[in-house]
Amino acid sequence: MNYLMLVNKNNRLNKDYVPDNLTVVKNRKGDKPNLILLLDKVVYKKFLEMVKVAYNDGYDIICDSAYRSYDYQEKLYKELLKSKKDISYLAKPGESEHQTGLCVDIAAYQKGRYVDDPRKLEKEYKWLFNNSFKFGFILRYPKGKRHITGYPYEPWHFRYVGVLAATRIMNEGITLEEYLGKVG
Ligand code: DAL
Ligand code: ZN
Repeated sequence: MNYLMLVNKNNRLNKDYVPDNLTVVKNRKGDKPNLILLLDKVVYKKFLEMVKVAYNDGYDIICDSAYRSYDYQEKLYKELLKSKKDISYLAKPGESEHQTGLCVDIAAYQKGRYVDDPRKLEKEYKWLFNNSFKFGFILRYPKGKRHITGYPYEPWHFRYVGVLAATRIMNEGITLEEYLGKVG
């Protein structure tokens, strides 16, 4: 697996691209029980390490969305188009790095209750922003970088790139596109 794989509006995946080492995420606690979440094996291992440390620091984070097939992304996209809600946060099928199995959308439990409203997760997202690089994750769509990433600020979306790349990306305040020298 190429953990530095770039997927964005200019670097699309084929309809039939399915990562080969997906594994079932077992850290969910009951919401959306019919949705089976899958992640790349290595990414899942690192995610669980991060969950443990976050928990010890007082943040009960969970994986809320992980691998999404091309077809599933297409379904989400069509539903969102129909609903006439803001589509700027959702990638078109083939343009989502969720199809790589290398990223997670993060929600949390607060006082035993599942919370996915970003306005209520500021502390969790701040912890993740400051600490996720230690486990090889980056905040993939930071503030003020939409002209490079193609997406507005998404405090919940973390992408695994490995500790080396994540540390440099964090220290330099850059995006994956910039790290890879693939801007524009
Ligand atoms: N929200 C991100 C951009 C996605 O749909 O892949
Ligand atoms: Zn996401």
